[in-house]
Amino acid sequence: MPTESASQALEILRDGSQFEWYVVPLLAFVLYVYAVEVEKKNWNVVFAGLALWGVDWFNEIWNGLVFHFTQYAPVWGAPGDTAFLLLIGLNIEICFMFAVAGVVFAKFLPADRDLKVLGMPNRWFVAIVGSAGNYPYGLIDPLEKLSAIALKHDIGMHVDGCLGGFIFPWIEKLGYDIPPFDFRLPGVTSMSADTHKYGFALKGTSVVLYRRNSFRRHQYFNVPDWPGGMYASPTAAGSRSGGLTAATWASLVYLGEEGYLKAAKSIMAVADQIKSGIEAIPELALIGTPTFVISFRSDEVDVFHINDFMKTRGWRFNVLQLPSALHFCVTMPQTFAERVAERFLEDLHAGVDYARSRAGTVAETTALYGLAGTIEGNQQVTEMVFGFFDYLYSV
Ligand SMILES: Cc1ncc(COP(=O)(O)O)c(C=O)c1O
Repeated sequence: MPTESASQALEILRDGSQFEWYVVPLLAFVLYVYAVEVEKKNWNVVFAGLALWGVDWFNEIWNGLVFHFTQYAPVWGAPGDTAFLLLIGLNIEICFMFAVAGVVFAKFLPADRDLKVLGMPNRWFVAIVGSAGNYPYGLIDPLEKLSAIALKHDIGMHVDGCLGGFIFPWIEKLGYDIPPFDFRLPGVTSMSADTHKYGFALKGTSVVLYRRNSFRRHQYFNVPDWPGGMYASPTAAGSRSGGLTAATWASLVYLGEEGYLKAAKSIMAVADQIKSGIEAIPELALIGTPTFVISFRSDEVDVFHINDFMKTRGWRFNVLQLPSALHFCVTMPQTFAERVAERFLEDLHAGVDYARSRAGTVAETTALYGLAGTIEGNQQVTEMVFGFFDYLYSV
């Protein structure tokens, strides 16, 4: 049985006879506020306005659902005078108020981002993450600038050095221009480096480093009063194989600085040759200024056709999207192969010719080509991949 106030609100819910003409100028006012911001391309302000309005709708909808399922009362109601009651707790006047409130609040944010209001910062940064060798292109983010921002706001900064952490130091020692990416940057508080990549150890091992021991304490996990005994684990993963750790250690000490330097030198010799070769192919464009991870795209041909062709010659690329591109890492085993860079470039030239000859046709590289790479397509692909995971986990 609904409460009296809920019953009053129900009586006028979406009742058109309540309509008042002042709604029209109110609507015009809301539209005017947004039109001004859109005209000035103040997208941050427009987004702030829409975000707060969206939050209000979210709250009003769950409030309405509470009433629907209890048939007793919403958490709050709006049974009073209104020109139109949209939902049990939301009338048209409140709705318009929330539509402009975010814009107003955003406008009142002090222009000076460092100014403290009542002792509190007027902008909040939580943490910064940057890459030292991102996966798609192997490029290093502008970490020096990010470090300065982290210091200025006194927040943590993590560097994902999974891919580059075990090879950039050696490439740098060889004399290549590698910007500082590690604890030399004063703002960096933690970083990762995968031993199972360029540390040449087994899969499943990595390193996370902290600037201070006190930071490492935050990763520990402990349930002292668990009936199974006092449970404590130094990492998120519980049981792990000590064999992996031992094998990783063995790899590190076996190769040592000398071994890693030697590997980096051979890798860079091959990578440099391949990069120059790609630069000399007019149809292809390298992405950024890469080191050992090389990616290229093309405005002239479909790189996925190139991938189709290269597969037939035994080469394996990783396919990138947005924009479509191909990437590969030069690794130590490749450097042992005879004339690897020359053979690769010969095949790549032939791959470009093949792609030219296939212009206008759909590449085989992915059956989803033309679907993946778009926002809508990616949502469908995500669904498909999650369905695949469900299948893998099913018994
Ligand atoms: C830059 C970067 N970060 C993180 C990862 C993730 O590594 P893992 O799958 O070992 O957790 C990768 C994997 O390729 C990577 O390239």
